[in-house]
Amino acid sequence: MSNQHLNYSEMAKDQPPDLGYKCTKCKDKGYTLSKDESGYEYSEECECALLEKANHLLKQSGLEKMVHDSNFSTFRYDYVWQGQMFSKAQEYLFDNKKGNWFFIGGKVGAGKTHLCTAICYEFIKGCMRTIYMPYREAFSVLKRMLSANARDEFDHYLQSLKTTEVLYIDDLFKCEKGKLPTSWEIEMIYEIIDSRYRNSELKTIISSELNINQVLEIDEAIGSRIYERSKFYNIILSEQTCSNIRLNPLKVQK
Ligand SMILES: Nc1ncnc2c1ncn2[C@@H]1O[C@H](COP(=O)(O)OP(=O)(O)OP(=O)(O)O)[C@@H](O)[C@H]1O
Ligand SMILES: [Mg+2]
Ligand SMILES: [Zn+2]
Repeated sequence: MSNQHLNYSEMAKDQPPDLGYKCTKCKDKGYTLSKDESGYEYSEECECALLEKANHLLKQSGLEKMVHDSNFSTFRYDYVWQGQMFSKAQEYLFDNKKGNWFFIGGKVGAGKTHLCTAICYEFIKGCMRTIYMPYREAFSVLKRMLSANARDEFDHYLQSLKTTEVLYIDDLFKCEKGKLPTSWEIEMIYEIIDSRYRNSELKTIISSELNINQVLEIDEAIGSRIYERSKFYNIILSEQTCSNIRLNPLKVQK
């Protein structure tokens, strides 16, 4: 019998009695059965299966250790600019239009990574495949792969950055003090950004100490793509208005 002819009610009959299940709703089958108005039986993934999937995606994302501290419920808005950041991020999450990216640039320690991590966590809860790409660490990994001649691993990693449903690039173009990104780094970032730019199904979240004009100065092709995609969700935290929460923690813990 082919799969498409499987009768879900028949399958359910073979299950053990309703004792000791982790999920009583689906009796640990991972799906529930319902009937539509015409009596047609269909199956739906159970909440427990979705939760399991989200947990798996969280582990794979590289954000597992961060989401405990950096999520929306731990994000405080004691200052007007923090409230504005929070609202913009919420607006972004609830905007279902395709092709919108999120960019936040500026002041060190003002909560850019916290906010972007919180956004990603919500996408992961919605079972979206997400990758955290901390700029400098990711480039160290890519360089190490190349110098170890691990070309397959390198290609696989690069491909996953280009195609994952959600990519969070943290600290874009962060370099050692006084240095600029190398032309190879710019080339790699261009490849990633351009692939994602051409597929409006993919979401890209970017934080940087630079503002969009400074990104444009480094590379216009990269900057203008980011600018266009994050036109509606682009936050700049100015040096004058915003503060470094790391140096000012008492203001956050009321
Ligand atoms: N609004 C906030 N509510 C609670 N904690 C916050 C808030 N903003 C920042 N923090 C905390 O302050 C610290 C610094 O924030 P974060 O790392 O997000 O800053 P950043 O802007 O990414 O800094 P950098 O430019 O150095 O990368 C973190 O521990 C973060 O959780
Ligand atoms: Mg940061
Ligand atoms: Zn279930």
